[in-house]
Amino acid sequence: MRTQVAIVGAGPAGLMLGHLLHLRGIDSVILENRGRDYVIERVRAGVLEQGTVDLMTGTGVGERLRREGMRHDGIHIAFNGRRHHVDMAALTGGRAITIYGQNEVVKDLLDARAGTSRPLLFDVDHVVPSGLTDGRPRVSFQKDGDHCELACDFIAGCDGSHGSCRTVIPPSQLQVYQRDYPFGWLGILAHATPSSDQLVYSYHPRGFALFSMRSAEVTRLYLQCGPDEDANGWSDDRIWAELQTRLHTDDGWRPNEGAVLQKSVTGMRRLVVEPMRYGRLFLAGDAAHIVPPTGAKGLNLAMADVRRLADALAAFYSDGSEHQLDAYSDRGLRRTWRAQRFSWWMTTMLHRAPDGTAFDHKRQIAELEYLVSSRAAMTSLAENYAGLPFED
Ligand code: FAD
Ligand code: DHB
Repeated sequence: MRTQVAIVGAGPAGLMLGHLLHLRGIDSVILENRGRDYVIERVRAGVLEQGTVDLMTGTGVGERLRREGMRHDGIHIAFNGRRHHVDMAALTGGRAITIYGQNEVVKDLLDARAGTSRPLLFDVDHVVPSGLTDGRPRVSFQKDGDHCELACDFIAGCDGSHGSCRTVIPPSQLQVYQRDYPFGWLGILAHATPSSDQLVYSYHPRGFALFSMRSAEVTRLYLQCGPDEDANGWSDDRIWAELQTRLHTDDGWRPNEGAVLQKSVTGMRRLVVEPMRYGRLFLAGDAAHIVPPTGAKGLNLAMADVRRLADALAAFYSDGSEHQLDAYSDRGLRRTWRAQRFSWWMTTMLHRAPDGTAFDHKRQIAELEYLVSSRAAMTSLAENYAGLPFED
C-alpha cells in the first residue's frame, strides 16, 4: 500500500486531519487499533472553543453541531456555598464555548470520511512507524492476522496519550515533561434535565465537582476521586449524595438526579513532549501533550494542531515549501504551554490535594475570592477558557 500521509489514530485529531487533507486533495490512510463502535461510544470531552466550532463549520462538518450544539456565554464558579457568574462573552468581546460531545464530533468526522473513497482501517494491531529519517517513511501493522506495510511521505502520530508513535522517537531526541496528579475524575452521564443552563465548577473541602450537560435531557457530572478508583465502587446513591454535597449552594440550586447511564474514572496527567516532530513523523493532539481536563483544553488543542499540520502539508504539496512544516512544532508548543499553564491553574485552584494543608485551603479560597471580585482576573479566565485564536 502507498499513500501520501499515514495517519495513526482515529480520534478527533486523526479524523480531522484526514478530513482537512481530503479537502485539499491530499491522500491519507487512517489506521485505528480499536473497533468502530468503541471509537464512537467513548465518552469524553464536551466543551468546544470557538476555533474548533469555526473549523468544523468552515469545513462542512458542522451542520449537526450548528443544530444540536449548545452555545454558552458564561460559566459559574462555586465555593463556600455561593455561585458566581463569569460572563465570558461580555469579558471577551463576544466569545463563547459550545457544548457538543466529543463522540458527536467523532461521529460527524467518521460520516465525512465514509463519504470519501479514502481508507480508514479499524482493528489494526502492532502499528510501527519507521524510516523517519532515511527518506523511506512507512508504517507496518497487522490486519486480520496479515502483516501489512504502508509506504508514505509523512506519518501523523494522532494516537493519543498511550499511542505507539511517540515511543519510536529515540529518547535522546526528545524532552519529556510529565506528571501524574494524585487524583482523578469520576464522570457520569445521567438521564436528568440540566438544572442550570451553564456549567458550574465547584471547589469544596471534600474535593472538586463539575456540573455539565450534553442535551436538554442529559446531564454530565464529574467528581474528584482517587486516581485509581474503581467506578463500580461508587453506587449511584453515593455518587448523588457526594454531588449534592459538593455542588450545594445557598441559593437553593441543585443538580437534578436521574438514571446513571454511564460512569467511569479517568486519572489526571500532564505531559508535554518537545519537539512535536522527528524527521517525517509529526505528533498531534494527546500523542504530543496531555492537559488535566479542568480547563477543557485537550480536544481543542488537538484541533489547533491538525489545522496547522494540514496547512503545512498543503504548502509542501503545492510548492515543495517546508517552511511551515519546520515551524509546526515551535508554534504548537507555544500554544501547548499556554494551555498547560491555564489547565494547571484551574486544577490547582479547584481541587483538594491529598497532602493539602489548611494553608492551601485558605490560599485557594483567597484565590477564588479574588477571581470573582476582580474584572481583570475574570477576564483572564474568560479569554483563556473561551480559547486563544487558532492562529496564535
Ligand atoms: P484520542 O481521542 O485519544 O484518539 C487517539 C486514537 O488513537 C484513539 O482512537 C485510539 O484508540 C487510537 N490509538 C491509540 N494507540 C494506537 C495505536 N498504537 N495504533 C493505532 N491507533 C491507536 N478536552 C476538551 O477540549 N474539552 C473538554 O471538555 C474535555 N474534557 C475531557 C474530559 C475527560 C473526562 C477526559 C478524559 C478528557 C477530556 N478532554 C477534554 C480531553 C480530550 O478528550 C482529548 O484531549 C482528546 O480526545 C484528544 O484527541 P486525540 O485525537 O489527540 O486523541
Ligand atoms: C466537560 C469536561 C471538562 O473537562 C470540562 O472542563 C468541562 C466540561 C464535559 O465533559 O462536559
